[in-house]
Amino acid sequence: MTDTDYPLLESQVVALLRDETDALANASNFVALLYNAMEDVNWLGLYVLRDGELVLGPFQGKPACVRIGMGKGVCGTAAAARQTQRVPDVHAFPGHIACDADSRSELVVPLIAGNDLLGVLDIDSPSLDRFSVADQAGVELLCRAFCERLGEDGTFI
Ligand code: SME
Repeated sequence: MTDTDYPLLESQVVALLRDETDALANASNFVALLYNAMEDVNWLGLYVLRDGELVLGPFQGKPACVRIGMGKGVCGTAAAARQTQRVPDVHAFPGHIACDADSRSELVVPLIAGNDLLGVLDIDSPSLDRFSVADQAGVELLCRAFCERLGEDGTFI
């Protein structure tokens, strides 16, 4: 598998979002850019925090479950702990929520602006152990770049 060039991708995130302040537009382009740049990924998208639960946001892939409670599944665990969850085998993760039956491994990165949790970025792969420690560091870099360039008030509509 070709390694993802995360520094290059970060510069593309910055360029893509630089001139726009609408958070929904920026979030949509962010997930489209990453989905098309990463190999062996079957689902990539955002869950945004709304009234204390995670709600499906812009994504690429098959239709997915809409609401995930804090602490539930891989996404809710990442959100509640505010820590990335890198899951080599989703079937071994207690409480994993299966949206796309093809998914075998998963990387979920919390989106944090200042002290505020905005939601999570969720990436699924049909391959076991798809995401390395380097992928985790690279995707965290991209998420920081994204959160710094969200809409003017830093929230989703
Ligand atoms: N697997 C996730 C649910 C979201 S889908 O993968 C798109 C979870 O366990 O939170």
